[in-house]
Amino acid sequence: MQTAAHDEDSVIEIQQVTTRFGEHMVHDAIAFDVRRAEIFALVGGSGSGKSTLLREMILLHRPDSGSIKVLGVDLQTAGNEETLALRRRWGVMFQQGGLFGALTVIENVGLALREHTELEDDLIDDIAASKLALTGLAREVGAQYPSELSGGMMKRASLARALALDPELLFLDEPTAGLDPDSAGGVDELVRTLRDRFGLTIVMITHDLDLLWQVADRVAVLAEGKVQGVGSMSELAHMDHPAIRQFFAGPRGRAAQETQQAGAQTDNRNKRPPSKPK
Ligand SMILES: Nc1ncnc2c1ncn2[C@@H]1O[C@H](COP(=O)(O)OP(=O)(O)OP(=O)(O)O)[C@@H](O)[C@H]1O
Ligand SMILES: [Mg+2]
Repeated sequence: MQTAAHDEDSVIEIQQVTTRFGEHMVHDAIAFDVRRAEIFALVGGSGSGKSTLLREMILLHRPDSGSIKVLGVDLQTAGNEETLALRRRWGVMFQQGGLFGALTVIENVGLALREHTELEDDLIDDIAASKLALTGLAREVGAQYPSELSGGMMKRASLARALALDPELLFLDEPTAGLDPDSAGGVDELVRTLRDRFGLTIVMITHDLDLLWQVADRVAVLAEGKVQGVGSMSELAHMDHPAIRQFFAGPRGRAAQETQQAGAQTDNRNKRPPSKPK
């Protein structure tokens, strides 16, 4: 099976992707693969093109050249039916949450089910409630409006919405941004559970070094239009490359690395091996 492994194991294949906005080249022939059931992170400085790349992976923006295949479908050549089917197989949690303010939380979570399925209202509410429970929200939260939620609850609610259609692939844009350390830690656990329990493939953009050390199997570092390196955090920590060194060298980078190393010595119960891409 070794020869077929590439296609079977790759959930996303990005080849030679180039993106320009006017004169500004954001991506210069970018390439990497995301493998099935891995937690893959995209990191890089502000403006390095992470969100744009994510938008390209979910059909919200077209690269100028190159190819992106998601779940075996070439996004450039896919027809309407194929892209509709694809959109049902992935879930997206946007950075700002993206919940509709005029709908309650449970209505927000059920929205995709109403759009994409013929299920009865009662069943949709039951499914939506189960997704809320999965993300650790109390049942009563379903009746609340997004404006009534804390930052952490909002993240969980938008994650519940991303999970509504039981996706195989989950995209998360800054899942822990703006959260206090306790809430952020809860999101770490949740991301790991989703992969371990449901075999989800997860692509996340994050600046959160603790999250990266705790849950990412592999990380791609974007800088100057290129992927400067891809590997586990420990592999990257040993790479001798200016952009990658810079990423680890700041005070937050050093602190997260020290926490990780201290944790690895004293408590391995909840830690995953540094790289487990299957
Ligand atoms: N629609 C657009 N029109 C023009 N320029 C754009 C557009 N979208 C993104 N850009 C530019 O592309 C570059 C990459 O933007 P992108 O949002 O992908 O960065 P990012 O890595 O997500 O940054 P951040 O960490 O700040 O979110 C930026 O210079 C941005 O100004
Ligand atoms: Mg961004």
